Amino acid sequence: MTIPDPKSFQVKSFGCQMNVYDGARMAEMLEAEGMTQTAEGEEADLVVLNTCHIREKAAEKVYSDIGRLMKRGHAPMIAVAGCVAQAEGAEISRRAPGVGIVVGPQAYHNLPALVRKAARGEAALDTDMPALSKFGALPARRRQGPSAFLTVQEGCDKFCTYCVVPYTRGAEISRPFEAIIDEARALVDAGANEIVLLGQNVNAWHDEEGRGLEALIRALDALPGLARIRYTTSHPADMNEGLIRAHAEVEKLMPYLHLPVQSGSDRVLKAMNRSHDAASYLRLIDRVRAARPDIAISGDFITGFPGETEAEFEATLRIVETVNYAQAFSFKYSPRPGTPAAEMEDRIPGEVMDERLQRLQALLNAQQLAFNQAKIGLRTGLLLERAGRKPGQKIGKTPWLQSVHLETGAAIGELIEVELLSAGPNSLAGAHLLPAAA
Ligand code: 5AD
Ligand code: SF4
Repeated sequence: MTIPDPKSFQVKSFGCQMNVYDGARMAEMLEAEGMTQTAEGEEADLVVLNTCHIREKAAEKVYSDIGRLMKRGHAPMIAVAGCVAQAEGAEISRRAPGVGIVVGPQAYHNLPALVRKAARGEAALDTDMPALSKFGALPARRRQGPSAFLTVQEGCDKFCTYCVVPYTRGAEISRPFEAIIDEARALVDAGANEIVLLGQNVNAWHDEEGRGLEALIRALDALPGLARIRYTTSHPADMNEGLIRAHAEVEKLMPYLHLPVQSGSDRVLKAMNRSHDAASYLRLIDRVRAARPDIAISGDFITGFPGETEAEFEATLRIVETVNYAQAFSFKYSPRPGTPAAEMEDRIPGEVMDERLQRLQALLNAQQLAFNQAKIGLRTGLLLERAGRKPGQKIGKTPWLQSVHLETGAAIGELIEVELLSAGPNSLAGAHLLPAAA
């Protein structure tokens, strides 16, 4: 069966920021092919589901989305991209025959060719993992909001026993220095004033000349027109002295560090194959804070890893109390096919995981609120990123990645001075400080 070439498309990204980046690049590529992106609420001829496989719930979501799309009057051409595509491959079209295209995260530069294949009624699957070749094949960056993601590193060699990433995203690989700086320049020319360097292990980025992430940050610091630099996600094992020093010395590098610890129990950390223990993680945090005392620390946590006892869970609460996080993400352990932890005994019952997650989140939420409240009265820079719900309202980010709502006539993309007036757990309210009239 042949179907007409799709004219319009929609890309829906789930999961991590690297998927958001990939989603943006897929959209740029389809636009370069002459297709148009549909507005919110419009039905597209082609829907790309850019999926996440990190936990079971995320991975299963794609099937309910496919079911919903198939119920439309005119079912669209459906492409499953991202980590579920990589992990499940051809199995997806067997389970959901409405899916015409399956494309993995290292192969999406072939999406236009796959669309043409699917339109001819041919099976269109590509889950090859050729290192980095997609970047060279993608069109140049064009449109850009105030804050832009830039993937510099992909994959993971750490093999934490719970995690699918080494299997879905492959081995650690760093993009070349020049390619990254060229893309950064294109993003700034296209309107970005903040760049967020991305990688599953972004601080493992390095090149053949022995340069590390610090060198990239310093090169971006010298880029005219760029106001802010961020990077995420970091692994404690790759948090070296040079990068820590950059936090003290590079003014454009924002005071925010996402440094997942996962657990506060040394036995659990070992079973997770994390390379740090609680004490070495805390020493690292001390060094980072010595370099940049106001830095906002954020982290990831898993509750209910196989065999986790109540006392081991309490060790997680203790490390949270010691670090005092500005922000955090916490999850119930989810067994993932093919990972070593999925074979471990002593699964923790769902109710116990739930109860632990709730206690952990209550503590993390209280810390986040306290972090936000401690900033009340402060004057700081705010990068306006989008319009708020109310007319005239805009939402921007502080250096510590807090969202601030305020009324201002300043344009999206401007970096303005604000005073922070009040704080909730998830955002603050502020007032635009206008420069004194001359
Ligand atoms: N179950 C629950 N959480 C997980 N994460 C990764 N794998 C799993 C899993 N199998 C969490 C970790 C990681 C974040 C991206 O997702 O905390 O840092
Ligand atoms: Fe999800 Fe990990 Fe894939 Fe990102 S890399 S989409 S978090 S499975």
